[in-house]
Amino acid sequence: MMAAVMPGIRLGVNIDHIATLRQVRLTDYPDPVAAAVVAMQAGADLITVHLREDRRHIQEADVAALLRQRIGPVNLEMAVVEPMVEQACQLRPEYCCLVPERRAELTTEGGLDVAGNRTAVAAACKRLHSAGIRVSLFIDPERAQVQCAVALGVPAVELHTGRYAEAGDTSSRRAELDRLAAAAASVVQAGMAVHAGHGLHYHNTAAVVGLPGLQELNIGHGIVARAVFTGLHRAVADMRALIDQGGTA
Ligand code: PXP
Repeated sequence: MMAAVMPGIRLGVNIDHIATLRQVRLTDYPDPVAAAVVAMQAGADLITVHLREDRRHIQEADVAALLRQRIGPVNLEMAVVEPMVEQACQLRPEYCCLVPERRAELTTEGGLDVAGNRTAVAAACKRLHSAGIRVSLFIDPERAQVQCAVALGVPAVELHTGRYAEAGDTSSRRAELDRLAAAAASVVQAGMAVHAGHGLHYHNTAAVVGLPGLQELNIGHGIVARAVFTGLHRAVADMRALIDQGGTA
């Protein structure tokens, strides 16, 4: 039986961990910009980078080079702090995704507390919007966060799939998927775009592809990890095929 084709879900390839490999030795390779070229050639729709406050992987120069060389649309993930908002307004990527940031975390743990930081998030959204940047908010699939994101009128919400990805058994995975689906449905009903990401790989993405109204997935670690064995082009192309077919590759 042929797998159903899922039209039009964008794939944002997060290249942070190409830069991680470089930064652990402070070499000038591997070059995340070169990785972005390969990712776009292999079927990515956009390039996602997280310019963390601690600069542990992506550096300003990487973001500037990506934008200067126009390799593909850039989705800049960033914390809601004044220097980053200012920097984003200067850099002017196509998209910004506002995320929470804690210095000691291994990766972005949990979504942005939009409801608890409404004033600061609203101010950042307004400035980024004025700079011509399309903003999304990275939130947990929780009613209060979705309602607040809707109230702020941002064009898109990225649902944090980390709890789904980390669920240890079938029933908790199912429960997390249900929470994601309910949140996605509310976002769609409000006329906003649904994005999703975090912890997705070749064995757990197929179920997420079926979320109501899903328009974009941002995937990094799983693709870069597979690229160690297959090369980056193949790793991105396999994820592209998996998303397009709504199946497993
Ligand atoms: N989306 C957002 C908002 C993120 O912060 C991250 C991690 O930087 C990702 C997607 C990608 O997560 P992963 O590397 O686990 O695929």
